[in-house]
Amino acid sequence: MDGNGRWANARGLPRTAGHRAGVERVREAVRTAVEAGIGYLTLFAFSSENWSRPQQEVSDLMGLLRFFIRRDLAELHRENVRIRVIGCRQTIQPDIRALLNEAEDRTRDNTGITLVIAFNYGARDELVRAVRGIAEAVRAGDMDVAAIDEAAIAARIDTAGIPDPDLVIRTSGEQRLSNFLLWQAAYTEFVFMPCLWPDFDRAAFLDALAEYGRRDRRYGAVSAPDLAVGS
Ligand code: FPP
Repeated sequence: MDGNGRWANARGLPRTAGHRAGVERVREAVRTAVEAGIGYLTLFAFSSENWSRPQQEVSDLMGLLRFFIRRDLAELHRENVRIRVIGCRQTIQPDIRALLNEAEDRTRDNTGITLVIAFNYGARDELVRAVRGIAEAVRAGDMDVAAIDEAAIAARIDTAGIPDPDLVIRTSGEQRLSNFLLWQAAYTEFVFMPCLWPDFDRAAFLDALAEYGRRDRRYGAVSAPDLAVGS
């Protein structure tokens, strides 16, 4: 959800106004994803690197997450949305941890779209935590080194049970992954949108999905037409 700061700057507003406008786009994005038949929508809300922003901005972002959960949880629950949170839960404020736990607990049995909130998330940090867990299991004698395979790692990262993303959309014209889902994005398609996140409306989301629809995904193999002609 990139570009909130630039959106605010362009209007002579404080950066927080951009983040606030960004939160208002979240519900629309969830609705558009449901309409498009998407099963899992992951939003990168706060990265493990975002702590290095000015203290006031960090505090405003924490406030916005509280606001979002308090205001929208009941409605998301009514709409059958299941919430999952990825990221390091240990190092965030206890009241935010409690809100995130509540959001997951209340919506656990819902059967609609899964909204994955990446909060205090960094892919390298996620992998470090998973590797430590595996090392501890081996040391305790609960796991054999030979049992460490891709499935074992996938089962110990934060997204365990969540399919790898088919598509990552980054707004604001930046073309990098910024420590997002490094393991999971091995075969993901990327669509980079020039618009800033507060302008990322339903039409922009559908444009990104249409671009995805034109991609030929091969997963390291050859495409079906090539196979047919035996080339
Ligand atoms: C990136 O834009 C955006 C963020 C670091 C924060 C996104 C968070 C929210 C919209 C609020 C909380 C989320 C939820 C799910 C309620 P930027 O500030 O880096 O923009 P810039 O590159 O233009 O400065």
